[in-house]
Amino acid sequence: MDEILKVTNGIKKFAGLVAVDDLSFTMKKRTIHSLIGPNGAGKTTTINLMTGVFPLTSGDVFFDGEKISGFPTYKISRKGMSRTFQNIKVFPSMTLLENVMVGGHETASMGIVRSLLDIRGANKEEKILKEKAEYILDYIGMYKLKDERMDNLPYGRQKMSELARALMTDPKLILLDEPAAGLNPSERSELVKIILKIFNDGRDFFLIEHNMDVIMKISNYITVLNFGRKIAEGTPLEIQNNDEVIKAYLGERFKKTEGAD
Ligand SMILES: Nc1ncnc2c1ncn2[C@@H]1O[C@H](COP(=O)(O)OP(=O)(O)O)[C@@H](O)[C@H]1O
Ligand SMILES: [Mg+2]
Repeated sequence: MDEILKVTNGIKKFAGLVAVDDLSFTMKKRTIHSLIGPNGAGKTTTINLMTGVFPLTSGDVFFDGEKISGFPTYKISRKGMSRTFQNIKVFPSMTLLENVMVGGHETASMGIVRSLLDIRGANKEEKILKEKAEYILDYIGMYKLKDERMDNLPYGRQKMSELARALMTDPKLILLDEPAAGLNPSERSELVKIILKIFNDGRDFFLIEHNMDVIMKISNYITVLNFGRKIAEGTPLEIQNNDEVIKAYLGERFKKTEGAD
């Protein structure tokens, strides 16, 4: 089984609007697979379908060989899929460390009622989450900022904290929805480095992004959506030279030949 993710004939309709239109694609294990296309093409909806945010109108999603369509988000998260959001979702008055720890509560073993009844057990679990969050912040080079209030951190750091939070569940696959949006060039190159580091440590990535430097640099494979439909798929070089993709999305300026820069 060399597939990590597969969508078969996925359709999502919102009150008559077909946001995702008979989409089928396969993502191989040990790849960074990107989904690109114009605004409104159905990219975020595709992630929402894969993570169980809403049900498919029809079609199926498979993760690591198992059919997961119909599963609730927490169950999909426990299977090893973790995501970040296009619009930043942080708790501004909490510290960076606390924000990252929130990512672990999703899969922590104790429920709220049990943790109220068993304070000592809850404290122990909290300590484990804290150590894990500190480890992850160190891993992505943000440990020194751990006690800063989130709203004191620059936007780029806040965005990076969401990647840290996504790591708290030990995912096999991380889905990032426009991680480079709003980042400056040096933050972007740091993001690329950190994604590659996490990838090289064994986790796969599914990436939605408009920044073509980022996409073409790190993707192994690209799927292109337009009006909810797949219009192309292939390697970065194939996609950059695909006439339909150039017409619908990229424009001529991205056309490249091998070796050129
Ligand atoms: N929850 C929703 N309810 C109704 N329409 C939605 C919803 N989410 C997305 N859409 C619509 O679906 C289409 C695809 O949106 P989206 O997946 O966000 O595109 P992208 O991420 O590619 O920009 C858009 O027309 C959008 O307005
Ligand atoms: Mg989107």
